[in-house]
Amino acid sequence: MRRTPPAVRLRDFQPGDADALARLLHESVREIGARDYSQAQVEAWSPAPAGAAAFLRRVSDGRRVLVAIDQADRPAGFIELCADGYIDCFYCHPRAAGTGVGAILYARLESIARDMGMRSLRVDASEAARRFFLSRGFRVIQRRELERNGVPIHNFRMEKARIAQPQGVPMTQSSNDKAPVILLIGASRGLGYAMAAECLERGWNIVGTVRPGARTPLHDLADTHPGRVTVERLDVTEPDQIAALHDRLSGSRFDILFVNAGTANDRQDETIAQVSTEEFVNVMITNALSPMRVVEALQDLVPADGLIGIMSSGQGSIAGNEKGGHEVYRGSKSALNQYMRSYAARHAGEPRALLLLAPGWIRTALGGPDAPFGIEEAIPDIVNTLLSKRGKPGLEYLDRLGRAIPW
Ligand SMILES: NC(=O)c1ccc[n+]([C@@H]2O[C@H](COP(=O)([O-])OP(=O)(O)OC[C@H]3O[C@@H](n4cnc5c(N)ncnc54)[C@H](OP(=O)(O)O)[C@@H]3O)[C@@H](O)[C@H]2O)c1
Repeated sequence: MRRTPPAVRLRDFQPGDADALARLLHESVREIGARDYSQAQVEAWSPAPAGAAAFLRRVSDGRRVLVAIDQADRPAGFIELCADGYIDCFYCHPRAAGTGVGAILYARLESIARDMGMRSLRVDASEAARRFFLSRGFRVIQRRELERNGVPIHNFRMEKARIAQPQGVPMTQSSNDKAPVILLIGASRGLGYAMAAECLERGWNIVGTVRPGARTPLHDLADTHPGRVTVERLDVTEPDQIAALHDRLSGSRFDILFVNAGTANDRQDETIAQVSTEEFVNVMITNALSPMRVVEALQDLVPADGLIGIMSSGQGSIAGNEKGGHEVYRGSKSALNQYMRSYAARHAGEPRALLLLAPGWIRTALGGPDAPFGIEEAIPDIVNTLLSKRGKPGLEYLDRLGRAIPW
């Protein structure tokens, strides 16, 4: 379901806002902050609402405070810009989280900063704010280990070294403020991880998902590339986790959303009548239903002219099925292709690029040891084809060399 843009208006802070904003800050910390920090940490971060007088004192140093007001005339969020380009408080009310209010507030703040002649912006960001600011061209300078009311807690010092030029003034090639960002679903290992590493090499920032639990190679990549690779948690078969991921990423914008996660039944030589119902259901839910749920739920994080792709397979081609085999897996990817075509039909005429990508038979846990290609030799072509689809509206079903596959 496409979210409608938030109906808010922005205005400058008025003293009468102080009490409501102090309470908004507290509720935001307790609810949104608790998604990334422990109970003890959020209690130490905001033990109680600050109260109107304390809030007024804090903002009386000449800083600019912008407030978003919703249709019921309630504050939905606020952001503060200090004279030296430091963004102090930036909070959205939990009921407004995921509606794009943060994006609206930040966009106005950046344009004000530019008009004031500021060249750079700085912020000390919580985990959620770090994800937001990464998607706005900030980079992490340092992870800061702090203590609040006796409880250890961390945040990230971030900066945007060059704030965006007014429209029509191109950024110079050397600027890396505008690193594009890909949201890769299923990047723990295999092709998904290799795509993350390859995109990183090519100057992209990565938000990659892994299933909750074990440490994965993606965590190592994030450790060695702080600020450029972020690990998120998602089991694609859990709709609640998809919704929670959307909430955590709300306000972020991704140039590409790519769903790579996929699975196969254990015995690939089983015919469709031989496979257990349980395995059939697992493969179909993972490969056909879940990617579409992810796309529907996260599409509003991708700009109208961005790219949404899913890892399909040449085995999903009905026209190409002349030898049979891999019946369950094949059927799941054919179903995926069909659902993506329905999605594309519903979005006909829109500028977004849509892609079903068939990587070829590759040696991974899923592809097995007999596949003719290794990950290293296949991944540059896979990423080339993905990136070259940008800016080409409509759905294509392509192999890794960019050739159309018959449906
Ligand atoms: N290798 C090939 O020959 C080949 C050919 C055609 C298409 N493909 C497709 O390419 C994609 C990647 O396959 P691969 O070869 O790299 O396989 P792989 O090494 O087995 O990796 C599968 C990936 O999908 C993730 N995944 C599986 N179920 C998930 C779930 N419920 N929620 C979230 N993530 C889940 C795995 O995460 P965990 O680490 O948590 O399990 C892992 O990251 C799949 O869609 C596959 O169908 C592969």
